[in-house]
Amino acid sequence: MKSGLMRYLSAAQVARLTAVPAEARPYYRALADAVRALILDGRLPVRVRMPAERHLAATLGVSRTTVTAAYDLLRERGYLDSRQGSGSWTALPDPSSTADNPWLATGQDGLIQLHAAAPPAPSALREAMAEAVEDLPRYGMGNGYDPMGLPVLRERIAARYTARGLATLPDQILVTTGSQHALHLAMSLLAGPGDPVLVESPTYTHAIDVARQRGARIVPVGISHEGWQADLVACALRQSAARVAYLMPDFQNPTGALMDDATRAAVAGAARRTDTTIVIDETWAELDLDGGDGHAPMAAFDTDNRMVTIGSASKLWWGGLRIGWLRAGTALIRRLAVRRAAVDIASPVLEQLVVARLFDRLEETRAERLRGLRASRATLVAALRERLPAWQFAVPRGGGTLWVRHDCGSAVSLCEAAATRGVRLAAGTWFGLEGTLEGYVRVPYTLPPPVLEEAVERIAAAREQGPAAGGRPADALVPMV
Ligand SMILES: Cc1ncc(COP(=O)(O)O)c(C=O)c1O
Repeated sequence: MKSGLMRYLSAAQVARLTAVPAEARPYYRALADAVRALILDGRLPVRVRMPAERHLAATLGVSRTTVTAAYDLLRERGYLDSRQGSGSWTALPDPSSTADNPWLATGQDGLIQLHAAAPPAPSALREAMAEAVEDLPRYGMGNGYDPMGLPVLRERIAARYTARGLATLPDQILVTTGSQHALHLAMSLLAGPGDPVLVESPTYTHAIDVARQRGARIVPVGISHEGWQADLVACALRQSAARVAYLMPDFQNPTGALMDDATRAAVAGAARRTDTTIVIDETWAELDLDGGDGHAPMAAFDTDNRMVTIGSASKLWWGGLRIGWLRAGTALIRRLAVRRAAVDIASPVLEQLVVARLFDRLEETRAERLRGLRASRATLVAALRERLPAWQFAVPRGGGTLWVRHDCGSAVSLCEAAATRGVRLAAGTWFGLEGTLEGYVRVPYTLPPPVLEEAVERIAAAREQGPAAGGRPADALVPMV
């Protein structure tokens, strides 16, 4: 399998791609920088064999020691792997090392991307993709449009719900293009202009966008990192006559709160009495860092088909796959599938096959993700306590974010100052309605530990010294996932 992916570059190709001017000094460093830049922006794939040093030296018209020095530098920074007797291969550095960490230096705008709670792809992605490419020709014989999603993937998603304690058939699953699409589809069917839609406060920023786009009347119900108060949720449902409630019972974004079973049952009962449909967003549900296999999905408390569950491959695996799903009764799923024709007709086949293959590696990939998040969470918590001891937060049992009460007055000004010091940060106001929650920032722990340490240093500098002179303007601050 792997050998099918391997390729090599000739000396002439490397010379053309790197295009280092003959007068560059020191030449070896310019050559190494050019190769690094090609790898980082994807023009040079990883695991490609580089030409032998003597061939490249001859083609470039430089000494062999110059090319050796460039290769040594690339190796030291993690961009080349060398194996005795089989040459040098392009690589990416280990993201947990600080030596030359691409997360620190090469976001599109050069800022540390702390405004998005989105982990990098798992190490198994490459193999899952290669297997999916092998699977693809069979699907290529069809027309490629499957509004419900590929049966192989729907089966795996349904089996996973069943394993988590919620018996589910593949017919109850609709594959979507990310859970954002699922949320949009569900809201477009369930909530119309003027309809009251209950959301948690704070809530996921793009859920607010969806409800606003529908012209819904958004009704917030406050929660804290300690979670929901069932009587307040019931009261808000009753008083607002909410048609739809959008809830994240599993590691709520941004608080990380987890709803306990008694509250799940109470909220389900209250929704039944007010005839409210609950849209449950389980985008973070698989990431229970401390609780083992934990708790049954919220829809296990559904007695009359009033819950629509949204799931995603983005946090367990990778957001770049853009695969999510909806789980509901079969009749509703069919109606939603018809509706998606107006938006995207169907999800991409290759990405669905990749996610099906990742489901086959669920245990291994989930363990890797949990390990990484635990390490990042520990580092972030320690760095915040040391550098910003007045900031308050609870450490959530799962998910990927800390909801932090800061001591700076305005979260927006703090985020602007942080941006000038190289960190994009999410102000609490993104997660609230009508400008509320200025006292908070959301700090995700989805980046590698050294990057989080550096980010906290920069945020502390922003807090202590304000914006950096000549720093980046605030227009870098657009809301993210
Ligand atoms: C709670 C929640 N819902 C939905 C999404 C959207 O995820 P995606 O469309 O990548 O599946 C996110 C992304 O961060 C999220 O945190």
